[in-house]
Amino acid sequence: MIVLTGATGGIGTALALALARRGKHLVLSARDEARLQALAARVREAGGTATVHACDLRDQEAVSHMAAAILQDGVPEAVIALAGHSIHRGLSETFGRPHDLVRLAGTNLLGPATLILALLEPMCARGRGRVVAVTSATTRIPTPGWAAYAATKSGLDTWLRALRPEASARGVGICVVEMPLVATAMAAPTYGSDPRTALSPEQAAAMVLRALDGDRSLISPWWARIGAVVSQAAPARSAHLAGRGQGWVARLLRRDRSARPFRSLRHRAPERRS
Ligand SMILES: NC(=O)c1ccc[n+]([C@@H]2O[C@H](COP(=O)([O-])OP(=O)(O)OC[C@H]3O[C@@H](n4cnc5c(N)ncnc54)[C@H](OP(=O)(O)O)[C@@H]3O)[C@@H](O)[C@H]2O)c1
Repeated sequence: MIVLTGATGGIGTALALALARRGKHLVLSARDEARLQALAARVREAGGTATVHACDLRDQEAVSHMAAAILQDGVPEAVIALAGHSIHRGLSETFGRPHDLVRLAGTNLLGPATLILALLEPMCARGRGRVVAVTSATTRIPTPGWAAYAATKSGLDTWLRALRPEASARGVGICVVEMPLVATAMAAPTYGSDPRTALSPEQAAAMVLRALDGDRSLISPWWARIGAVVSQAAPARSAHLAGRGQGWVARLLRRDRSARPFRSLRHRAPERRS
């Protein structure tokens, strides 16, 4: 049994169908019950079996109930924490919006952590299993506009890094996939429906399958690893370059060339007070 959150999204659907072709039993989770049921039908057609749990990861009690319901059917061989939510806002648009962090922390950190903790205990007791969490290639490099998203994703990453040594000693491997840009509904509002350099959902699903099948702790694009080292070694220079380059990067990725730098990063003369 493999538990998959974010199953109805772009990457989740591709991944669920790939796992179905392996004949797996999937526990599919997201908030929208109708979409989950439709996906479960496709999973069965593709050769797998599926049960569904509609659950909002921001509701910790609901997450605990879902974990208990899953465990009634057995101990999963793997948990894939794929669900995520992103908000793209520059600094000026972020002022007065601390609730962005609260919203994203529920979906990207607290909900997945609650689910993983509940399932990890019996997996450790059984002495085998795999936890795969999908974060973002932007978490370890300064990326203007993605502050709340990167903070909550790297929170999950840091939490799992600290759990990894003990979990691994009990037979449960933990792998984080730092996903680059993928052409899904999540990327569309910022970069359009077909961004340059983006992976297809199937290519992204293949990255997650690599994390599931192997024994690696981190799967990440080469440039994200270099970026992580550079931003640790030269944080001020990296921040300067990221600020200067963000409008250029957005225009490069977006084919319709309508992307604009954030207002906060364009030069603005100070307002005169009369
Ligand atoms: N697309 C990219 O460029 C990109 C880049 C880096 C990392 N990622 C990460 O890859 C993962 C999958 O992204 P995607 O591109 O497939 O996104 P997507 O198409 O927007 O799918 C997001 C999935 O998460 C579920 N979800 C969202 N909020 C939820 C909540 N509060 N509770 C439970 N489920 C929730 C959605 O279903 P419901 O709305 O029905 O709940 C959906 O199944 C995410 O973790 C994302 O952060 C994506």
